[in-house]
Amino acid sequence: MFSKLTRPQSLAVLCRGVHASLSSATSVATKKTVQGPLSSDYIFEREAKYGAHNYHPLPVALEKGKGIYVWDVEGRKYFDFLSAYSAVNQGHCHPKIVSALKAQSEKLTLTSRAFYNDVLGEYEEFVTKMFNYNKVLPMNTGVEAGETACKLARKWAYVVKGIPKYKAKIIFAAGNFWGRTMSAISSSTDPSSYDGFGPFMPGFEVIPYNDLPALERALQDPNVAAFMVEPIQGEAGVVVPDKGYLTGVRDLCTKHNVLFIADEIQTGLARTGKMLAVDHENVRPDIILLGKALSGGLYPVSAVLCDDEVMLTIKPGEHGSTYGGNPLACRVAIAALEVIEEEDLAKNAERMGNILRNELMKTPSDIVTCVRGKGLLNAIVIRETKDLAIFQVRKTSEELRDKSVLWPARDQVTAAVAACAQVWAVTGVS
Ligand SMILES: Cc1ncc(COP(=O)(O)O)c(C=O)c1O
Repeated sequence: MFSKLTRPQSLAVLCRGVHASLSSATSVATKKTVQGPLSSDYIFEREAKYGAHNYHPLPVALEKGKGIYVWDVEGRKYFDFLSAYSAVNQGHCHPKIVSALKAQSEKLTLTSRAFYNDVLGEYEEFVTKMFNYNKVLPMNTGVEAGETACKLARKWAYVVKGIPKYKAKIIFAAGNFWGRTMSAISSSTDPSSYDGFGPFMPGFEVIPYNDLPALERALQDPNVAAFMVEPIQGEAGVVVPDKGYLTGVRDLCTKHNVLFIADEIQTGLARTGKMLAVDHENVRPDIILLGKALSGGLYPVSAVLCDDEVMLTIKPGEHGSTYGGNPLACRVAIAALEVIEEEDLAKNAERMGNILRNELMKTPSDIVTCVRGKGLLNAIVIRETKDLAIFQVRKTSEELRDKSVLWPARDQVTAAVAACAQVWAVTGVS
């Protein structure tokens, strides 16, 4: 198993740990990780041995990040073109967010929502005023924000819209990605997300993305509570809908008394050249979901924003989370949002995105068949050829890594393979 380990001493120690009792194996491994520098190969092998195989990372073992750069354990420096799928839009280890985290972590970190804390209300006021919604419901991960929105939509459907009990439907768009829980995979059209995990959540329906007539047909059903959609589909390969799509979604949802839920977890917070991607069409969804860059990559923080008519349908005890709204998360989120505004990261993303796409357009069109995106959320589509393995996306990502650019690819989408190219929205890059 450890055949490729480059540190014989580490190998010996780890092997001893494996055959020893659980407690001594743990302590041996712990001791080992605090000693001298580790090689990349050692790190790959150790994760493969002890971790679940639910990811297939690009072979690069990182140990440090600053701004737009990351460094691997051998000291090689890379541009981070992914920025944790939009979670570190502010740049790695942004000093203002780090110091907010440090200061609050020495004061009060978690109270649970059984008590009040002195930061939650400040954050709630800050974030609702910034995005112009009556209320916020704080959660931790992005997928929890999606789950929360589904619960709010169903509750609103029964309490306000008058849909018969347990008949409410939520519509999603094909190609959506909003996480890995049972609900999220129940709306997924990607077999690698859902296959083997049924039975699935009822009351979900999927229509094509960027297809207003399909939405209009789906909304004929009076039991539809909500349409949940990404303004640009991130994980599907940065799929940008036609101009006017979001406006059309807004109009149709209003016409049919259906909630428009915008999943801005990947598109939001300055990534696409605006604070929210829906701002490109000046539309106001009924519910918005934020996550990822809401903490600048320091801590899992997510949020659901909407007005009272929807939010107040959920009563005490009907939804929550031990960590949601904790003082540490709130301080980090305030700092993360302030950084985006103070450094005008939306403008930077727009400017840098234009430069990036202009340069990418110069790549040979027989290899790169499409360049698309907005701001710094971008993709290229690489022609897939059976004979020329060099153009396979995984290989391309490895070659880019060798040129100091970390730009991971979707392994396989359809015939055309989309590589998720996301470049950082951070100031000071020219
Ligand atoms: C659009 C969108 N929504 C939701 C999620 C889920 O976020 P998390 O992984 O924090 O649960 C993701 C994650 O990539 C996403 O891209």
